[in-house]
Parts: sequence; structure tokens; C-alpha cells
Amino acid sequence: MQPMPNPPLHALVYVSHAAGKLDNAYLDSILVDAMALNQVAGVTGVLLFDGERFLQYMEGSEAAVSAAFLRVQRSRRHSGIRVLMRGEVAERYFSKWSMACRHTEASILQRIERSRWESRMLPQIATDRSDNDGLALLMQFWSDEG
Ligand SMILES: Cc1cc2nc3c(=O)[nH]c(=O)nc-3n(C[C@H](O)[C@H](O)[C@H](O)COP(=O)(O)O)c2cc1C
Repeated sequence: MQPMPNPPLHALVYVSHAAGKLDNAYLDSILVDAMALNQVAGVTGVLLFDGERFLQYMEGSEAAVSAAFLRVQRSRRHSGIRVLMRGEVAERYFSKWSMACRHTEASILQRIERSRWESRMLPQIATDRSDNDGLALLMQFWSDEG
């Protein structure tokens, strides 16, 4: 019998504005919830925060990513959510983190936000980092800082 192929992986990236001043304790409480929920759902990813804005990358099954993003959208702790990328990805790029957060300079967050998040190839072909400048930059930032 043929082994079952792995179900396709999906990723979603967005930016948003924090609602008011978020101190570390407040941010921690968001993360504690997010990590616990993601662990159960099999979602992994990273969150950048520059003091005012978030950029979050999440990956997992399409259903799990959609459910996590619904929770993100319902949260009053931020607003102005703008999706930069949503779709299939070739592999799990942040498998070690159910959600890790790093403080980032605004200029770095902006550079990652403004880079090309769409695949240069046909949309039906899964995105991988060699084909997606935003993802490549985010991964480079993450490994440089790590
Ligand atoms: C910046 C940010 C990132 C979040 N990331 C996730 C996430 O990765 N997974 C998830 O299930 N929920 C996520 N959430 C939603 C939180 O789980 C939710 O905000 C938390 O449970 C507290 O609920 P409240 O914001 O309604 O007070 C996120 C929320 C914010 C503001």
C-alpha cells in the first residue's frame, strides 16, 4: 500500500497595530494563550513586535491556521489586521516554536512587511523560501538573532 501523503501545509502572515501600550506582562499573557492553543492545534510560528506593531507568521493545517487566525481577528488587543500572505507552503519553517516572540526594530519589521510575500511562481505551486522574499527575510532575521 502507498503511504498517505502528508496533508498540505498552510501559512498565514499578517501585520497589525497593538491596542494602546502593551507592556511585557501583557504581551506574555497573549503568548501564553497563543502557545497553548497552537500546541493543541499543531500550529507553529513566530511573532515580531516593535513596540507598536505586530508581524506574525503561523503555519499548520489549513483548518488549524484558519481557526488560530479567527482567534487573532477576534482579539481586541490589536487592530488594523492586514494579511500579507495566505496559502500553501512547501514545509514547516518554524517547527521548533508553538509561537515565539521577538522584539524587533520598527525598521526591520517594516522591511519584512514590505518585501515580496507572493510566490514568483504560479499561485498553485507551494511557496518555499527560495521563491518568497518575505519568508526568506523573516527566516534570515530569525536565524541571525537566534
Ligand atoms: C498579537 C497576537 C497574536 C496572537 N497569536 C495567536 C496565535 O498564534 N494562536 C492563537 O490561537 N491565538 C492567538 N492570538 C489570540 C489570543 O489567543 C487571544 O488574544 C488571547 O486568548 C486573549 O484573548 P483576548 O485577546 O480576547 O483578551 C493572538 C492575539 C494577538 C493580539
